Amino acid sequence: DQYAEWLATIPKTELHLHLDGSLQAHRMLSLAAKHGIGLPYASVGEVEAAYQFKNLQSFLDLYYLGASVLRDEEDFYHLMMDYLLVCREQNIVHCEIMIEPQTYAPNGVSFSTMMAGFTRAVDEAEHDWGQSVGLILSLLRHLSEEDALQTLTAADEFRDQFVAIGLASAELGNPPEKFVRLYAAARERGYRLVAHAGEEGPADYIWQALKRLQVDRIDHGVRCVDDPELMAHLAETRIPLTVCPLSNVRLRVFERMADHTLLQLLEKGLCVTVNSDDPAYFGGYLSENYHAMHVALGLDRSQTLALIRNGFEASFLSDQKKQMYL
Ligand code: ADE
Ligand code: ZN
Repeated sequence: DQYAEWLATIPKTELHLHLDGSLQAHRMLSLAAKHGIGLPYASVGEVEAAYQFKNLQSFLDLYYLGASVLRDEEDFYHLMMDYLLVCREQNIVHCEIMIEPQTYAPNGVSFSTMMAGFTRAVDEAEHDWGQSVGLILSLLRHLSEEDALQTLTAADEFRDQFVAIGLASAELGNPPEKFVRLYAAARERGYRLVAHAGEEGPADYIWQALKRLQVDRIDHGVRCVDDPELMAHLAETRIPLTVCPLSNVRLRVFERMADHTLLQLLEKGLCVTVNSDDPAYFGGYLSENYHAMHVALGLDRSQTLALIRNGFEASFLSDQKKQMYL
């Protein structure tokens, strides 16, 4: 339709994307076969039939199972390249991608194997079509802070390859304050800081991420609507929220897209951005997220442009590069 055609012409960012969440069903199956790993699914149809989630944890169970098929440099190269090709197709000129080494470590995958595949794809995309990419070292909050700190240390050798650290996985029961030392250590190393907060967890977790972790940006953050003082603070500071509409509906954060509060946040002056989170599992990449909001909430062109502009503002691009798009 016309909105979709128009949207494709506008350069966009994506700031909240778990690379493992872009693993397509056909690749999950072919890599499982390649490495002789048993999966409880025999076909693309069977994998996709499992994309029925009742909450974040029910999704994470499938997400980590899927990611367990990634083993060698070639696998990581293709995973990254598949997503970067989508960026080219959807006019996502700058993306910041979360990668999660703690997911692969139990399978004997070294940091250097993973990084070799990822950076080969990134270098190619930068060279071939000028793709701009930032990598975010995303740590898993269901594991210990000690495990995260060890991963941060393992990343020291690759420090220049990352723009930021992040915090993902099961939110309830794993509050930001569990990771105060991790964030202090990352800050000392010069990383920018992001964290998931206020997806399933309460508004207080957003406050914790801001005050205890001193994050530059909040992933999700939609539960801020429960706390007017927090809303006012986010509007005033313009600390960005990377909101993921299709994810929120699939993980039952909102019952229907028509219930999504993203436009209220935009209206209140918060720096909200649109992102896909785990596009292979949630029924669409970035453009499909905008399109779903257009259909369900009447998201119009000027609101779309405001969200896209917020994406550049919220990015970790240099001020000079931001100016090219703002
Ligand atoms: N890991 C991948 N997707 C996630 C999400 N939506 N929330 C928390 N952790 C995640
Ligand atoms: Zn996420």
